[in-house]
Amino acid sequence: MKIQAFDNDFGAEITGVDLRDPSDELREAMHQAILNHQVIVVREQKLSPLEQVSFTEHFGPLEWQENKQHAHPDHDKVLVLSNELRPDGTAVGVVDAGDYWHSDSSHHEEPVMYTILQSIRNPASGGDTEFCNMYAVYDALPDDIKKKIAGLYAIHHVSKKLNPRTKISTSRPGAEDFYEFQAKARAEVRQPLVRTHDETGRQALYASPRFTLRIEDMDDAEAQPLLDELFKYVTDRKRPHHYRHKYTDGDLVMWDNRCTLHRATGGYGLPDIRRMHRTTVVGGKAFYKPAA
Ligand code: OGA
Ligand code: MN
Repeated sequence: MKIQAFDNDFGAEITGVDLRDPSDELREAMHQAILNHQVIVVREQKLSPLEQVSFTEHFGPLEWQENKQHAHPDHDKVLVLSNELRPDGTAVGVVDAGDYWHSDSSHHEEPVMYTILQSIRNPASGGDTEFCNMYAVYDALPDDIKKKIAGLYAIHHVSKKLNPRTKISTSRPGAEDFYEFQAKARAEVRQPLVRTHDETGRQALYASPRFTLRIEDMDDAEAQPLLDELFKYVTDRKRPHHYRHKYTDGDLVMWDNRCTLHRATGGYGLPDIRRMHRTTVVGGKAFYKPAA
């Protein structure tokens, strides 16, 4: 097993392992690698849906899947992300997954801790995933902003209909109705704006343009400009907190949603096909603990 860290220790590539039937040592090495680097890229993997589920289960309980119609036929805990359409026009997988910066399922009381994407098929160009190091973003904030946001909560919601920072993708069949349904059926969830990582103890900014709507107990006149200011650290490409992953077939990418944001960058289209197999681990409630 070889671990090669990317710039600033954010992200690392792991080669020389087979995750189909990992030993306890390998599993623990993967756990340490993700705590150290936040995003890990494991090359040349070939996990079946069932093997991907058993590997994922080592890290905790798998997330309940809302998108049943896009589950893999061999295992309903594997979500298919793809732009492929069936002859009848229905989508094989989720078409517009992750098109704005976010942390997975921060709109749930118990958000996703780890996400695993196995790259099955890649378009000739495009389809990269971009990551942002939210420990580094927190560390880079001026002291007055750090003081201001300490202990605050923000309100997260899944529906794009409720979020002026997002637009609904025209490539997703039935998207308007889907987000309209979610706007009514799904609840708001409060999350700490600064999240203390339960394993590393480090502080990370925990908010995103995709899911964070406002700040609890703060007027929008003050809260929206503050959120815009915070999100500049994520969206301003000149800041050195990012890693952009270009996939090769067989890459298995795993990231820690407690301390990163990510987004799909798009840039491909039919007849070029992108297909990913996705599994997710739920990881308890987010919390903030002031530094001692
Ligand atoms: C996800 C996600 C981004 C991508 O699977 O949670 O946001 O590039 N995916 O597919
Ligand atoms: Mn995502």
